[in-house]
Amino acid sequence: MSEQYKALFEEQSFEERLSACQQHINAKLMAIFSSLPFLNSPLGTAMQYGAVLGGKRLRPFLVYSVGEIFGLPKTSLDAAAIAIECIHAYSLIHDDLPAMDNDDLRRGQPTCHIKFGESQAILAGDALQSLAFEILAKQDMPNVTLSDRLAMIAELASASGFAGMCGGQSLDLEAEGKQIDLASLEQIHQHKTGALIRSAVRLGAYSAGQRGREVLPLLEQYAQAIGLAFQVHDDILDVIGNTEVIGKRQGNDQQLGKNTYPALLGLEQAQQKARDLYEEALAALTELEKRSYNTATLKKLAGFIIERNS
Ligand code: IPE
Ligand code: IPE
Ligand code: MG
Ligand code: MG
Ligand code: MG
Repeated sequence: MSEQYKALFEEQSFEERLSACQQHINAKLMAIFSSLPFLNSPLGTAMQYGAVLGGKRLRPFLVYSVGEIFGLPKTSLDAAAIAIECIHAYSLIHDDLPAMDNDDLRRGQPTCHIKFGESQAILAGDALQSLAFEILAKQDMPNVTLSDRLAMIAELASASGFAGMCGGQSLDLEAEGKQIDLASLEQIHQHKTGALIRSAVRLGAYSAGQRGREVLPLLEQYAQAIGLAFQVHDDILDVIGNTEVIGKRQGNDQQLGKNTYPALLGLEQAQQKARDLYEEALAALTELEKRSYNTATLKKLAGFIIERNS
């Protein structure tokens, strides 16, 4: 990590830290892309477009913030942070495809398939997924044991595949235009979005050798709550957000007949649900604080998740 980033991460406000994390991840991603052969090919360009242009970098920020409470140097967390962002970028490229949500706007820009065509967008998603595992398997991770690294590879694979994000995406698409109950909706959201957010927390904890340790269930309780809150708030932004600010077409969920929290509960109840989940997240952090962990950043992050406007 650059000295500049280190200083920013240690001394600045939450917003400044998040912005420093965004710049840091972008620089790391660009360095990785620059080392690839045929970078200027249609596939290389589509991958960069889908991964680097815009985005909050919340999952990497979570990896760093969790690792940090165990005093882990940021260099030990870079590989996991970049890998999970590659998986996230792939999930967005595929989520926007005509066969899925058929979106033409993402992060304020034309979606990857609109810009590069469907075949290159599908391949860009595929290649970003492979790249994530290559990074996790190969990149330096000082202080991380080989068995923890192996567990991290398995964790990310499980969180992004059938039992996680892909499984949730499948349920989400299957439920379009149908009436489902709240428990089914929670299951969809916990899989399509919660799984990767939980994984970011686990990757940060595993990097610090916390696999199987007593604090892990508390971190998972936090992750479970913010993961669902994140998608509840995403659903809310689709109703009350502004296309220019959210960078995606407001109202698309309703147009597609998606099952969302505002659709099932109404806007106010959905907002209440997000606040309840925030409280659940804080309850887990209080337990961690009792064990002398500094959870200030994780607390701010939970607030940001339910208050953000994009
Ligand atoms: C959007 O995720 C997709 C969901 C899981 C709701 P983000 O809101 O984290 O997207 P970016 O990376 O900031 O664009
Ligand atoms: C997508 O959920 C979750 C993913 C796995 C990408 P959405 O379909 O609600 O995400 P947006 O609103 O398009 O970003
Ligand atoms: Mg979707
Ligand atoms: Mg979508
Ligand atoms: Mg959405």
